[in-house]
This record gives sequence, C-alpha cells and structure tokens, in this order.
Amino acid sequence: MKIVTKISEIKEIISNFKKNKKEINLIPTMGNIHPGHLSLLSEANKFDGINIVSIFVNPAQFNDVDDFNNYPNTFEVDMELLSKTNCKIIFVPSKEAIYPEGIKSEKTVFKYRGILCDLFRLGHFDGVTTIVKILLDLIQPSKLFFGEKDFQQLKIIEQLIFQNNLKINLIKCPSIRDSNGMSLSSRYSTFSKDEKLKFEKCAKIINSNVLNMKKNFNLNIFQSIEKELRTFGISKIDYIEVRNEEDLNFSIINERSRLFIAFYINKVRVIDNFLLY
Ligand code: PAF
Repeated sequence: MKIVTKISEIKEIISNFKKNKKEINLIPTMGNIHPGHLSLLSEANKFDGINIVSIFVNPAQFNDVDDFNNYPNTFEVDMELLSKTNCKIIFVPSKEAIYPEGIKSEKTVFKYRGILCDLFRLGHFDGVTTIVKILLDLIQPSKLFFGEKDFQQLKIIEQLIFQNNLKINLIKCPSIRDSNGMSLSSRYSTFSKDEKLKFEKCAKIINSNVLNMKKNFNLNIFQSIEKELRTFGISKIDYIEVRNEEDLNFSIINERSRLFIAFYINKVRVIDNFLLY
C-alpha cells in the first residue's frame, strides 16, 4: 500500500496504470475510515482494477467552520485499517495541492438541488462536485464507489458523471448499519456518552416508525417521528420526508421510496435514509 501526497506523483502513477491498461477503482473519502468505507472496498474487490482510496477533508464542502475544524482526523488508524484491505494506493493530498489558487467551488450540477440537504447546507454540494471532479480528472477511474447513506450526494454525483460524459461506472453501495439500525458515519465518532445515548433513542424511534411505514404507509408517521424526537429533546430537525429514489420527488407510496431524515444531536448532524419497500 502506497501513500501518495503529491499531485505530480499521482499523475505519474496513473499514467503508468493507463499505459499498462489497468483499470482503476476510486473510493473517495474524508478519512475516519469505518466499516461503511471498508464495505466500499469489498465491493471494489468484486471488480478488476487497482483500488485507490482518497482521503481529503474538503474545506470547500463545509458550510460551517466549526464542523470543518471538528471533523475527526484519525490518520494513523485509517492507515492501519486500510493496510488490511486490498487498497493499493492512498491519495492524501494537501489543501494547497488541491486548491493551489485558494479554496473555491463552482456550481455545475443543478439537478436534485434546492431540496433536502441543499436547503440547509448552502454551497455544500458545490464543494462536493468540485472536489469529486478534481479527483476524477486526476485519477481517471473506470469505477467510482459511493455509499447510499448520502443519497442526495450520490444522485448529484451520478448527474455530474452524466453531464460531463464521463465513462465512469458509479457503483452505489448500500449503507452499512449499526445494530441500532442507523447508517454508520464518521461524524458519530465524536458523540459524548450522553449524545450517544440520545442517538440510540432516536434510532429506536426512527426505525420503529420506518417499520410501521413499511407495513402501512401513512403520512401521519412524519408527525409521529417529529413529535417523538422533540420529546427526547431534539430541537433542530432539518427534514423528515418521503421521496422517490429515482427523481427525488415527493412520494406518497412505499414503492421505490425512501424516508429521508436530517436532524442534530447538539452539534452533530445526523442524516440517513431508509428504504420503504
Ligand atoms: O462523502 C464524502 O465523504 C465526501 O462528500 C466526498 C465524496 C469524499 C467528497 O469530499
């Protein structure tokens, strides 16, 4: 496993792979590697190609400085975890290498916008599409692995690939869930004991309501989730919505639909989505 930090070095490595007709699988991350990321690598192992993991905490996608500053940095542990996988290259560029002219982002994808997280994290998706496009241009993968936890992100990346006519196969990987039913996330590693307890209670509320909704679709369930979460002291709820997973339009049926939810436990933003069929 090789750790690459320089742009010139990654370019040379990629150019050698291309000369030797090797395919590349890219797994972009912001570090704090957990079983969700490892599942993306396991998925990548099902295909031919060299697995490259990028680790870059992208300042351009944080709309909150505190959130950026508090983002967990677990580099040593990440290396240890990745060294046990079939990851051949870890690309860990610096901010300066990625943004030599200063941090900036551009709005290029307009589809799937103005809804869900885009309403609450202004500029976030512009930061995401900017960094992903930079990584795709540098690493030129034939396959790109994304988890379904950040479902809107996944759809926007799909659109980015489509708009740019890229010959990249986007592999969508199901969320890896904790025993409490919630998708794993790097952000949850910063929970205090109390916050963790609160999270477990919220997980129970959400999952039992999702179960009910699967059996008997009922729009009152939103209110029920919201009311129960608020009772446990969750005061900031960004959204609880059911949307169709193809076009992300509102849905009032189970078929092809997911429940999308985002709320805060103190400063930690919890986002998740649940299949309703
Ligand atoms: O999902 C993430 O971890 C990030 O948004 C990504 C795709 C690595 C871009 O910084």
